[in-house]
Amino acid sequence: MQSVPASSGKRQRVGLGLLGCGTVGSGVVELLHAGATGLAQRVGASLELVRVLVRDAAKVRSDDCPRALLTTRPDEVLADPRVDVVIEVMGGEQEAFEYIVGALDAGKSVVSANKLLLARRGDVLLERAVAAGVDLAFEGAVGGGIPIVRTLREALVSDRVTALVGILNGTCNFVLSRMLDQGDSLMAAVAEAQRLGYAEADASIDLGGQDAAHKLCILARLAFGAAVREQQVHTEGIEGIEPIDHHVAERFGYRIKHLVIGRDHGDELELRTHPALVPARSVLANVSGVLNAALLEGAALGPCLVYGRGAGARPTAVSVVSDVVAVARDIVAGVAGLQTRGIRAAERPVRALGDVESRFYVRFTVRDEPGVMAVLASSLGRAGVSIEQLVQDGLTRGHGAPASVVMLTHRAREAAVRAALADLRSAPAMVEPPRLIRIEET
Ligand code: NAP
Ligand code: HSE
Repeated sequence: MQSVPASSGKRQRVGLGLLGCGTVGSGVVELLHAGATGLAQRVGASLELVRVLVRDAAKVRSDDCPRALLTTRPDEVLADPRVDVVIEVMGGEQEAFEYIVGALDAGKSVVSANKLLLARRGDVLLERAVAAGVDLAFEGAVGGGIPIVRTLREALVSDRVTALVGILNGTCNFVLSRMLDQGDSLMAAVAEAQRLGYAEADASIDLGGQDAAHKLCILARLAFGAAVREQQVHTEGIEGIEPIDHHVAERFGYRIKHLVIGRDHGDELELRTHPALVPARSVLANVSGVLNAALLEGAALGPCLVYGRGAGARPTAVSVVSDVVAVARDIVAGVAGLQTRGIRAAERPVRALGDVESRFYVRFTVRDEPGVMAVLASSLGRAGVSIEQLVQDGLTRGHGAPASVVMLTHRAREAAVRAALADLRSAPAMVEPPRLIRIEET
């Protein structure tokens, strides 16, 4: 690593301990190595990788990570006096929590990309960091390489953020894009996302929407000053989306995206993550593959878009190393803790999903026989839900065979639509439970 010329009493180096050297960790090591000279200039001291914790020290790794730095003993990183900053990119919850607490309590600043941990126990970790007078930085935890955390924490700190609507899971977006654009099956697209290093160690956390919910918990703290538990975020994944949904949505002029939605209504927050139809010409409809985007709305600023690669080794490493630079600069300046101070959050009421209003896409699989449309329409009508458009899938095989009927509704309360669908589940012509996807006019 490049060193900085000696000057009177000024710190010459900042030591780094890395917890994990998998997809993200190897990207971090690569950036630290390739950018050593420029990073040293930007920090005002050299960044020196001192120790790297892994599970399996015998595994073959990149040449940027010398074998001599590897250890399988966490204390060899956490208790090493040369380590000033601990970078946690190992994932998981309990062990990562213990290691981060150990580092903070020992007066070391921490950079983490672990959204699951930050969503579940970020409040405790932030408190510990503030108490210890050190930093806990987490740009890499949300949106891979896009600077969404810093945008909320610094650039928009002067404004009141009223809404945040975005695509914040690269795996889901990659999978939905491949299903629509290349006709891949869900499983084939997931396997490719795993090969490219986008998916979590357990990809069901991506597909089930939990990863996006974790990210919304983290962002709600910064955007709305809200301490949100993941159970408060209505969470749905993309597992139920079928090729027919993509094709019919497209026919209506929409694309299906997995969205994260946070709105501050003053008295209540709206917090949810789920697949949604977005107009084909909207910004979010055109965010494809592993790209992420977050559309923020500031009371004074108006709209603001953050966009870029949302997962993978190098984009995420850009965020992690940018945090390392920020934290190291503060250490060099003798003001550690600046990144973390001022992040405040309180419990806030969350609007019940049934009270949220939107338009809906509803797909019914019904036997193709006389009177079916009337049954569907009258149930929706009784619940006060008005149909705006309707299409019957062209693949119907004739009288009595299963057919898909898709309706787009006018705006309605979700509770009303759900009441109608519950009523229809037992209708004699119903072949499968109705499928509901919300429409988000972004
Ligand atoms: P990964 O490829 O599975 O790498 C995990 C690394 O941590 C491996 O080097 C593993 O060691 C090590 N490790 C795991 N548990 C350990 C333990 N108990 N003790 C010691 N070492 C342990 O995971 P990743 O994709 O890099 O993700 C890491 C973290 O970054 C996660 O929190 C993830 O959510 C987050 N993240 C990932 C991305 C992405 O695009 N992949 C983006 C943003 C944030 P071995 O190598 O010996 O197995
Ligand atoms: N698995 C995550 C995703 C990694 O696909 O978005 C980036 O946070």
